[in-house]
Amino acid sequence: MKLSIAIVLFFAAVVAVDAATDAIPYPQGYRQWQHVKSMVIQPGHPLHASFGGIHHLYANDKARTGYRTGKFPDGSVIVFDLLDVNTADSAITEGKRKVVGVMVRDAKKYAATGGWGFEGFAGDSQTERVVGDKAATACFTCHIARKQQEYVFSSYRE
Ligand code: HEC
Repeated sequence: MKLSIAIVLFFAAVVAVDAATDAIPYPQGYRQWQHVKSMVIQPGHPLHASFGGIHHLYANDKARTGYRTGKFPDGSVIVFDLLDVNTADSAITEGKRKVVGVMVRDAKKYAATGGWGFEGFAGDSQTERVVGDKAATACFTCHIARKQQEYVFSSYRE
């Protein structure tokens, strides 16, 4: 009896470790990466409910290669850093961080969602995940429109 409980606990632990290693890590240091572009989404824009505010996109070295060549190698990471906007005094300035959206390239691991893993971290939290196992419906359904561009909307400029 005791042995079977131990076996069950052992397998539960293995499954937990597996799930943890599959989780997309918080993109530490992304503010030091390549800035790709910024955009302000105002009320009235169709995506305002989900992505209203100002966002900046950042690419790590591998993703930079992807933007330049059109082929994103495994290990590419792109960050969508979404902040509130303040519009006082006829200026648009950054407010509080709303979410850090992440795309991680691993053609095999994320084959079901175009070779990209998707995750979001709420506000300034590095642990509070907003996507989890819902990447296919919450993110990929929209990014699929960019199949010809490896599911990436933005493009690089010098
Ligand atoms: C309704 C459509 C839509 C949905 C849903 C969506 N995105 Fe996007 N995403 C976009 C658009 C459009 C851009 C380009 C924004 C720009 O050009 O500044 C983008 C850009 C991005 C980028 C930068 C790389 C690129 O494709 O340009 C990341 C990272 C990203 N999204 C992550 C996510 C995550 C994570 C989710 C799920 C929580 C998600 N997106 C859901 C439309 C969507």
